[in-house]
Amino acid sequence: MKRLFIKTYGCQMNEYDSARMADALAPLGYAPAETPEGADMVILNTCHIREKAAEKVFSELGRLRAEKRRREAAGEGMVIAVAGCVAQAEGAEILRRAPFVDIVLGPQTYHRLPEMVARATRAADPDRRGLVDTDFPVESKFDHLPAANASGIGAFLTVQEGCDRFCTFCVVPYTRGAEASRPAADVIAEARRLVGQGVREITLLGQNVNAYHGAAPHRVGGGPAEWGLGRLVRALAEIEGLSRLRYMTSHPRDMDEALIAAHRDEPKLMPFLHLPVQSGSDRMLEAMNRRHGAADYRRLVDRLRAARSDLALSSDFIVGFPGETDADFEATLALVAEVGFASAFSFKYSPRPGTPAALLERQVPEAAKDARLARLQALLREQQQGFNAAMLGRRLPVLFDRPGRYEGQLVGRSPYLQPVHVAAPDALIGQVAMVEIRDLKTNSLGGALVAGAAATASQQERLSA
Ligand code: 5AD
Ligand code: SF4
Repeated sequence: MKRLFIKTYGCQMNEYDSARMADALAPLGYAPAETPEGADMVILNTCHIREKAAEKVFSELGRLRAEKRRREAAGEGMVIAVAGCVAQAEGAEILRRAPFVDIVLGPQTYHRLPEMVARATRAADPDRRGLVDTDFPVESKFDHLPAANASGIGAFLTVQEGCDRFCTFCVVPYTRGAEASRPAADVIAEARRLVGQGVREITLLGQNVNAYHGAAPHRVGGGPAEWGLGRLVRALAEIEGLSRLRYMTSHPRDMDEALIAAHRDEPKLMPFLHLPVQSGSDRMLEAMNRRHGAADYRRLVDRLRAARSDLALSSDFIVGFPGETDADFEATLALVAEVGFASAFSFKYSPRPGTPAALLERQVPEAAKDARLARLQALLREQQQGFNAAMLGRRLPVLFDRPGRYEGQLVGRSPYLQPVHVAAPDALIGQVAMVEIRDLKTNSLGGALVAGAAATASQQERLSA
């Protein structure tokens, strides 16, 4: 058995991709390893979304070179592969700066990984250059990969990749390519398989997941009926044994009526939505090419909350986008104060090579970005703490997914992804039970099982408040 170590940077989609690469290499005899030491193969699955990602990869590669040398001195090999978005964006640069890398492959070609590994391990020539594959092939990798396997109660499932929105700060349309949706039939089959393996919660993934437009499992009336995400969610919710559905990340402009209706009607769809707004200033939103204003976002949130009153929101924010003034930034704070977020990610703008915003004049000085980020994060933290504190005394449906740190304790997730620690029997792993929230920890909640809380999924998932 050979040992495979994968280090994953960045988003959940990379986590999903890493798992699929491991599945693809299993038939070659590779089994997962916990550390790069002693591994026969190492994959760095990289992220290019923000600054320093590439530098982190190069410093990790430096460490791996030492390990590779050690192994080679002992007569053993080590295949080093760089995958993901840095590989896509900087493949040639990687091989120039780190010629000991054997394989560079982009996010759309990892179904070809077994073949590349076979070639890399066959070629003993020390002068051999690394293999690079950063195509955007016509065929879909999903048609060539082995079926996904589950290892826990929650699983990710990529339904859509790439993006056509071209926000001016973002590398995704360049590294992941054009928007493409998987056929609904394939997604449903994968979900069924995961549920058969014990998965109870599925998070549908896509760079712009609510732009999903997969083809229908059966052509209705002969035409290629397209499915939006709302319809996909409804179809997946019918899978018996599946308790919860989530999806991320969404663009406000792609939030259609059918998806909002799914939030209203489908109890398995969790009332927690990651809906990045980036900024509260119309001027900035325009410069970012977001194609919506702050008022559109507020209206959308109102519609969502009208559909599902217990819906909570999270968001991404960028401070210090080129040209952002104090007034623009104040507009962001005002939007946050008005909407109220259960959690959020906020970042300083970082110019990404090849994106339009990187070329804009009036880049904001680092010190101003730091000051704005600190203020925004203070407000967001306050909102998050308030949101968590509001859970005290409430009853929440918790999906238990693992044993806790102490004997007789389990950890699960609330509908809002808050970890909840509860004294509960192991038999509840994989089940949803009602929990009364009794204490508040820094990053989690504590509670007690509500006696006789057995209920149907739909009763459990509807919050009472
Ligand atoms: N600079 C800072 N943050 C960025 N993001 C994407 N590109 C950049 C950039 N160039 C943030 C956005 C996005 C999240 C995934 O990362 O907020 O929603
Ligand atoms: Fe990037 Fe998201 Fe904008 Fe697409 S919608 S360009 S992935 S920020």
